[in-house]
Amino acid sequence: MKTRITELLGIAHPIIQGGMHYVGFAELAAAVSNAGGLGIITGLTQKTPADLGNEIARCKDMTDKPFGVNLTFLPTVTSPDYPGYVRAIVDGGVTVVETAGRNPQEVLPPLQDTGIKVIHKCTSVRHSLKAQSIGCDAVSVDGFECGGHPGEDDIPNMILLPRAADELEIPFIASGGQADGRSLVASLALGAEGINMGTRFIATQEAPVHENVKRAIVAASELDTRLIMRPLRNTERVLTNAAVERILEKERELNSNIQFEDIVEEVAGVYPRIMKEGDMDVGAWSCGMVAGLIHDLPTCRELIDRIMSEAETIIDTRLHDLLSASSAV
Ligand SMILES: Cc1cc2nc3c(=O)[nH]c(=O)nc-3n(C[C@H](O)[C@H](O)[C@H](O)COP(=O)(O)O)c2cc1C
Repeated sequence: MKTRITELLGIAHPIIQGGMHYVGFAELAAAVSNAGGLGIITGLTQKTPADLGNEIARCKDMTDKPFGVNLTFLPTVTSPDYPGYVRAIVDGGVTVVETAGRNPQEVLPPLQDTGIKVIHKCTSVRHSLKAQSIGCDAVSVDGFECGGHPGEDDIPNMILLPRAADELEIPFIASGGQADGRSLVASLALGAEGINMGTRFIATQEAPVHENVKRAIVAASELDTRLIMRPLRNTERVLTNAAVERILEKERELNSNIQFEDIVEEVAGVYPRIMKEGDMDVGAWSCGMVAGLIHDLPTCRELIDRIMSEAETIIDTRLHDLLSASSAV
């Protein structure tokens, strides 16, 4: 399938694996890229720019296809060495960067001057337009259903994607709630040039996370995510568990008086214990409503091949037949 995104990024299929803290290591990024999509290493999971350089080199040993690095600008306790991470990306010969969290203007010149394509991931039409105006090559539009940080507007993709299509000139990718060939065809119909998936890629053979995490996603339904940190205006969609219910209880109790410190134990620094050790109740971890559509643990190649063949069948058979049926009347 050829879209503006496959052309821009030099990939076979319009399927991207979004950056994910403690999930987006070289193993997953390389597996997605080898299967014809775009894999993405999560920059800030690497503790220093030198570590990121090593991770990029490891990924290059595993694939000769394009892959990307995610640079997230989120409120963190101490500000990371962003110029150092940018240097590691440029020196590593990476061709695509996914930015997220806030306006990426300051990192555009050093990245784009070397030919790197920048996709800014954001959750609203106004932020997408801002990204376009500062020169981003594409945007990834994250709807309310997404795992991670959906923003504060609560607009689901059924509305957000056609709104983005009406306003944007640069290509955009549908992110949040994407799982299969149906998602891809629907997103293309709404104007997107491809899909970005997070949660679905965690439930794959190559995702370098503990089996408990994968099993939790397969066991979850679309009813099992919760929104935390809403009173702090840092809303995150997570899978419910004992820690999440404790956070929500504190949020109800303290209401607008809540401070980050009140929930810090359940949200800060918990990812290594969850993702690596499979200690599922120690804290909150991002997960999308799309868990309700995830029932198996394929390899990345099986998943991507299946999405593409399902999408082709829907277009060639179901949609095509609907049109021929109407013209026969
Ligand atoms: C466990 C997990 C960790 C994530 N970490 C990040 C991150 O560090 N930076 C980022 O930009 N997005 C992050 N995301 C968001 C994903 O890149 C992607 O936008 C989102 O998962 C799409 O929604 P979906 O889960 O419904 O596919 C994370 C998502 C998950 C599920």
